[in-house]
Amino acid sequence: MATPHPVAFPDGFLWGASTAAHQVEGNNVGSDLWHAENDGSGTLRDRSGDACDSFHRWPEDLDIARDLGLNAYRFSVEWARVVPAPGHPSAAMLDHYRRVIEGCAERGLTPVVTLHHFTNPAWLRAEGGWTSGEALTHFTEYVRAVLPILDGVRWVCTINEPNMVAMMVARRRHAADGEVPAFVVPDPGVTAALTRAHEAARELLASVPGLRSGWTVANQNVQDHGAGPDRTAEMSYLIDDQYIDVAKGDDFLGVQAYSRMRAGEQGLIVPGPDDRRTMMGWEYYPRALEDTVRHTAARLGGSTPLLVTENGIATGDDDERIAYTGEAVLGLAHALADGIDVRGYLHWSLLDNYEWGSWEPTFGLVSVDRTTFRRTVKPSARWYARLVRDPEATLRQGAAS
Ligand code: BGC
Repeated sequence: MATPHPVAFPDGFLWGASTAAHQVEGNNVGSDLWHAENDGSGTLRDRSGDACDSFHRWPEDLDIARDLGLNAYRFSVEWARVVPAPGHPSAAMLDHYRRVIEGCAERGLTPVVTLHHFTNPAWLRAEGGWTSGEALTHFTEYVRAVLPILDGVRWVCTINEPNMVAMMVARRRHAADGEVPAFVVPDPGVTAALTRAHEAARELLASVPGLRSGWTVANQNVQDHGAGPDRTAEMSYLIDDQYIDVAKGDDFLGVQAYSRMRAGEQGLIVPGPDDRRTMMGWEYYPRALEDTVRHTAARLGGSTPLLVTENGIATGDDDERIAYTGEAVLGLAHALADGIDVRGYLHWSLLDNYEWGSWEPTFGLVSVDRTTFRRTVKPSARWYARLVRDPEATLRQGAAS
């Protein structure tokens, strides 16, 4: 592959890895998803169970990140743990997450803290979820409870992938009605509720000196493959752009990219056997990162810096992870060379973790034994460590091979 652009990342660029509470901590018994996993309906293939037991083993996870030479670690605070009953935040849980934040600092890792990563407290679901009358009040009470432990934290993601949260609600509704279309339009009521929650959270977070806040978007990278420019733009607006627009003027926007969506003449072109696919069934498309960073930056018109908060691949072939990530990061370097303001790259994921209903897809740089919880650093993690140390040499090597 030719590399005409310089490969250079600015000083202070964050190089890290991401995780999310429900996917790694284990026994998140107060969450809505735990209930869905254990209600006997069998709609979800696997239970999260002990997950990676990171609730107890987080120091080990942070040690691994430090030993790889990373300088950032993204994790999420679990609302269901911090507020096990409405109106009664848990001091012990807040103390737990404060220790994780301090553990990052002790190891030279910049913590990137997510406040909401998909799961809600089960009690909120019982009240009707995001569109219930009290959701905003509950969320702001939660954020207010977390504020004191954020002292010294520089990066906070308010809500992870609001577009996916609203899409999942719409998908469940379609499923209940008997048919899920290939292109699911995110639920507008949930979108509005999440937007209000994000804005309220940002207002509260502004009281913490030096803290930057923003939300993250699951960039679907909609491309015109026969649908025509108008329909493609409409689909892109519904699934991505309306959420990017909310971030205008925010401190940053988290870009999360894995693949692309092809808008065909007859609707969405679903990846099939002729396409190279990942363990998620998604098209293997490492250019997704460069595409979405360029698209997002253009949409925001320079108003908001970007942070890559997720990018990676579910694969059982670790060489494929290296190839995918190398190409993705090279594309990112090209976008940076063209002047796009990107502050960091956080790989998804540090660990092989619970992929929302299944243990099968493996996104991790590190594998985790499902009974002993022993962590094993994969070759891709060692490669990533080299990349972080010397991006130019590592990427050029990859491009040459
Ligand atoms: C989510 C992660 C998830 C990953 C891969 C993102 O949508 O934020 O929690 O594991 O993509 O599916």
